[in-house]
Amino acid sequence: MCGIVGYIGHQGASSILVDGLRSLEYRGYDSAGIALAPGDGSFRITRASGKLVNLQARLDFSDPTPVGIGHTRWATHGRPTEENAHPHRSADGKVVAVHNGIFENYLELREELSKAGHTFVSETDTECFPVLVSHLMSEGRDFAMAFREALGRVRGIYALACLHADDPSRILVGRSGPPLIIGIGEGENFLASDVVPLLKYTRRVIYLEDGDLAELRAEGVRIFRQDGSEVTREVHTIPYDPVSAEKGRFKHFMQKEIFEQPLAISNTLLNRLPIDGETLPLELPYTDEELRGFKRIVILACGTSRHAGLVGQFYIEHIARLSTEVDYGSEYRYREPVVEPGTLAIGITQSGETADTLAALKEAASRGARTLAICNVQGSTATRTAEAVLLTHAGPEIGVASTKAFTTQLAVLLLLAIRLGDARGTLDPALRAELLQGLRELPAVMERAVNQEKTLIKWAHRWQEARDFLYLARGPLYPIALEGALKLKEISYIHAEGYPAGEMKHGPIALIDQHLPIVAVMPRDEHREKTLSNLQEAAAREGRILALVTEGDTGLAGIAEDTLEMPEVHPWLAPILYSVPLQLLAYHIAVLRGCDVDQPRNLAKSVTVE
Ligand code: F6R
Repeated sequence: MCGIVGYIGHQGASSILVDGLRSLEYRGYDSAGIALAPGDGSFRITRASGKLVNLQARLDFSDPTPVGIGHTRWATHGRPTEENAHPHRSADGKVVAVHNGIFENYLELREELSKAGHTFVSETDTECFPVLVSHLMSEGRDFAMAFREALGRVRGIYALACLHADDPSRILVGRSGPPLIIGIGEGENFLASDVVPLLKYTRRVIYLEDGDLAELRAEGVRIFRQDGSEVTREVHTIPYDPVSAEKGRFKHFMQKEIFEQPLAISNTLLNRLPIDGETLPLELPYTDEELRGFKRIVILACGTSRHAGLVGQFYIEHIARLSTEVDYGSEYRYREPVVEPGTLAIGITQSGETADTLAALKEAASRGARTLAICNVQGSTATRTAEAVLLTHAGPEIGVASTKAFTTQLAVLLLLAIRLGDARGTLDPALRAELLQGLRELPAVMERAVNQEKTLIKWAHRWQEARDFLYLARGPLYPIALEGALKLKEISYIHAEGYPAGEMKHGPIALIDQHLPIVAVMPRDEHREKTLSNLQEAAAREGRILALVTEGDTGLAGIAEDTLEMPEVHPWLAPILYSVPLQLLAYHIAVLRGCDVDQPRNLAKSVTVE
């Protein structure tokens, strides 16, 4: 989704803005631009379609102008052309704005402003904003008043930053929906859509709340509400090491993030595993009695996070014996959901900003559910709106395709199931001990899994030309088959389907021929024999089988063309472990096919529109 940056201070703004936009590239974009306000009554606006290098090539980085705003655009209204790239300006050239979100009433505003004699040059919804501000100023308001009034006139969602050519001592910003974060410096202040671009300059940040407006000057920041009243917001200190947002020795962020999983899991489990028989120290605001009072769980999420939710459903139903449903964030609120008393709605969202998941959680809350967010970004909207929060401590995830955020979500869901099982008395002590021991050993086992990379590179070479893939698994691993297929299609653009193995004969079997690679995830567990029968059916139709099995399992000889042996783990930990080879397979196929792995076409990291 679109990214916004801003800078006001004492250094040349252009390189800070472009650096910031580079840190936001992972969000997905198709054009970019910046505007500098040199204070001579005009702007220096530079925009380019395509990647940031195109913008960079047009910029003069020796320009000392110390104030500016920048934007990466992910097209929603209008094509990804230079004309539609932000910043947009008013026809009199005095006001510029960058915007993340959608103005739903932009056609009405455009019509009204056109009648008042203003002209428009782009196809975007955003352009009406600077034109409206300039129009309101022509009626006698000052910049801040016109900005505030214009925010009151637009309908929809926005994170916005705005500059006036005659008033370059401040950047005005507003937020309603998409995130906007202010970085506090010494004699300089920064603005960005997430914390990553800020880390290089400061760890002190303010998360603007919905309905906040702010005025950034070099010497300070003031925050207001829509009615003009001034408010104070907490200054948070970000714990991330800036280096964790760099690629290091890896070719892509995705590869780095796959390899970081042992550490991400270990950070996520830190201080959350009990010693001996002690209660699980999971930071939930519920007493045992309240946990026992939950009658039903509804998990709401999108994409990869929803796949984590499907594994969570197995964990919670099995370990805590609580009925659990999983729904798409984008569907839940449109089905008039029945929310019974005692429902806990769990939103799983890596970014904490996915519009559909946030709306689904809101819907559940409005129908009486308690709400819990499982999230990787502290301070994000999900963490600030849900009643309870469990953070995954994966560190910043830059690659658009989620990897370490996913496996840490699984780890948190397992901890949650154990906590619920403890409170409800449904967890067999022997199973509890096995799971906790398995979790303690998990980072080391994950290390062994990432070290299987060479084999997966070989597989990638062999299968990179395939037109389609089928992924099969059973039980808590079937969502991992869905996730493996999603990973492959989003970064390599190969069509892939994931299915519960038992479902294969109800349709997908028609696809099987000698050209179709079938990735089977089948550790030695209670489902193995049944999955094996399904694979035999596939082999009989000349399907090409690639199997992920437990070490020492030779039962696939003569059926599978390629076999990868994985370390033995408890079956409930297998979903976390077996995600790794599937991520590596997708990654290496995409690299061999020359795809833009970290920023796959059309995808955005944080989907802040419906
Ligand atoms: C795929 C991927 C997406 C996200 C989805 C939800 O690799 O990352 O499918 O999982 O857009 O995003 P979050 O978890 O931020 O709510």
